[in-house]
Amino acid sequence: MSEIKRIGVLTGGGDCPGINAVIRAVTKTAIFDHGWHVLGIEDGFLGLIENRTRPLARHDVGNILTRGGTILGTSNKADPSRFAVERDKAGNAVFEDVREKAAAHYRAHQLDALVVIGGDGTMSCAHAMAPLDVRCVGVPKTIDNDLMHTHITFGFQTAVEIGTEAIDRVHTTATSHHRILVVELMGRNAGWLTLHAGLAGGADIILIPEIPYDLGKLCEFCKERMGKGRTSTIIAVAEGAAPAGGKPVVDRTIVDSPEPIRYGGVGHQLQRQLEMCSGFEARSVVLGHTLRGGTPCAADRVLATRLGHKAIGLLASGKTGQLVVVQHGQLSSVPISEVANQQRRVPTDHDLIRAARAVGTCFGD
Ligand code: F6P
Repeated sequence: MSEIKRIGVLTGGGDCPGINAVIRAVTKTAIFDHGWHVLGIEDGFLGLIENRTRPLARHDVGNILTRGGTILGTSNKADPSRFAVERDKAGNAVFEDVREKAAAHYRAHQLDALVVIGGDGTMSCAHAMAPLDVRCVGVPKTIDNDLMHTHITFGFQTAVEIGTEAIDRVHTTATSHHRILVVELMGRNAGWLTLHAGLAGGADIILIPEIPYDLGKLCEFCKERMGKGRTSTIIAVAEGAAPAGGKPVVDRTIVDSPEPIRYGGVGHQLQRQLEMCSGFEARSVVLGHTLRGGTPCAADRVLATRLGHKAIGLLASGKTGQLVVVQHGQLSSVPISEVANQQRRVPTDHDLIRAARAVGTCFGD
């Protein structure tokens, strides 16, 4: 039996399409099915640390099903167990464990549980709050689709659609100019997004973090196909892809973030390298945050609603410390401890990779 009367909901980590659809499902199910009160926590765990909240009633979640971003705001810098409180003289962040402060705000609002919508970083934060009696259920969110134990996260399918459309669009301009065109997509450590969008968009070369590439082989592949009369070569590259023995290109370091490195720039680097070694003109485009913005596709709206509804179902049946997951199309749950600080990467013998190779896609290896 559930003893729940009041729940909080927060969204942590990078935003993605479909978050608002989850907030809507969580809030409406909690209110209509159970008569619970719902408190929105602003900017992820940062709002719990700084005590910034607002009540969510039925009218607060009206007309948000299709809206991108998150109405609650988010943060990918606020880990309560390692929170940047100041900078030292050298400009380095000074971290403190502020979990007790966050837990005190949870208690002050008389919350019985939190619905935590996020990726692996946010689930790690949720897991670290458990010893302080902050009870959480997780909803898996990320365009990277790299959470353990779930075959799909919401936001991913929309990002695949956006990435595919971008790749579709560069085909015609690349062909008209007889160019190599490099499209860089997000995907820090996992190549699911680039693999799916690259396959759907008919990219000739797909480069993902799980398969280190050989520049010489890429160059030969471009020269051979262009030499055979092909008028363009399209490359889909994940921001975290790197050459064998090399490292991903770092765009920036955010000192007060628990995960400080941001990748970016491999597309531009490849464009210059391939232009030089192949002799063909090349251009690059970085899709970046366009992959995370805007309205969720229909599949993500449906998935987000199912996940939000299931999260409340778990709480109602007395289960906490669980992440809602999708396995073989069915909803279930796994302990958050099993997904915290872990990533689900693309197996290099995955059937999508084998299918792509069979239709002539080069992975640079
Ligand atoms: O985790 C989602 C993600 O979009 C990654 O693909 C990317 O590396 C990162 O977030 C970018 O983070 P930020 O929004 O801080 O630039």
